[in-house]
Amino acid sequence: MRTLHRVADLQAELAEWRSRRESIALVPTMGNLHAGHLSLVRKARELGECVVVSVFVNPLQFGPNEDFERYPRTLQADQELLAGAGADLLFAPAVADVYPAGYPPATTVRVGGALTGILDGHFRPGHFEGVATVVNILFNLVRPDVAVFGEKDWQQLQVIRRMAADLGMPLRIVGAETLRDADGLALSSRNQYLDAQERALAPRLQAALRTIAAAIEGGRRDYEALCAEQWAQLEAAGFKPQYLEVRAPDLAQPAPDARSLVLLAAAYLGRTRLIDNLPLHLEN
Ligand code: PAJ
Repeated sequence: MRTLHRVADLQAELAEWRSRRESIALVPTMGNLHAGHLSLVRKARELGECVVVSVFVNPLQFGPNEDFERYPRTLQADQELLAGAGADLLFAPAVADVYPAGYPPATTVRVGGALTGILDGHFRPGHFEGVATVVNILFNLVRPDVAVFGEKDWQQLQVIRRMAADLGMPLRIVGAETLRDADGLALSSRNQYLDAQERALAPRLQAALRTIAAAIEGGRRDYEALCAEQWAQLEAAGFKPQYLEVRAPDLAQPAPDARSLVLLAAAYLGRTRLIDNLPLHLEN
């Protein structure tokens, strides 16, 4: 596996793959890789002949009081993990490579409407504009045939799908299941901010979603009351919930007879903001 920092080097290398008519699969990340990221790399391996993983902590998607400065940067460990997972190219640019005309960029991509005004978009103003912009830039630099994103960030996946559809981007967006620790906590680079006590509590976020899912499977449809009950449970356990909602998979309000749903939550545990979700498909 080769690690490249410069756009010109990346494009020279990709030109060779392209000249052999080999398809390119991209996995965008911010590094500090864990088994969840590596599962995306394995999926990309099945989907494309050349697997490119980008590692770039994108300042544009962090709010002024968020963790951009302390976000863990572990390029050497990432390199070893990616080589082991079968990536072909690691693209690890600097801010000046991604935003060559100056930072912040004058041009951004804003996916508007209902999709970004809710959930994380509501609590992290500007976040999805930063994500859509950098993902668009990465797509332009790599020109992948397929790009893989985790369902862990359900709303991000919907925003990227919508951007690609609205702007006629010639690639396939593929979603991949969330990888979890044995106790149910979704793997995340931010889990390492948790102290031992918080780490022990953290799986309750997924447990709350599972409790709501079981009640819906049992026939309840009073989503607001169900969420309010689990909200209170989470608060009692020491979380500060930001949202806990039942939505359609595309994040619209669910129809009364909807068979496919997604349950979504965000909550602070101490200083750490955790998000999780649970897709739910009802039988019959
Ligand atoms: P990052 O948080 O590093 O995540 C990179 C990719 O890994 C995302 O598609 C995310 O959904 C996926 N991922 C994270 N945890 C996962 C888990 N436990 N199981 C499966 N997949 C998981 O998301 C970003 O970076 C950035 O916003 C990015 C898209 C790179 C734009 O900067």
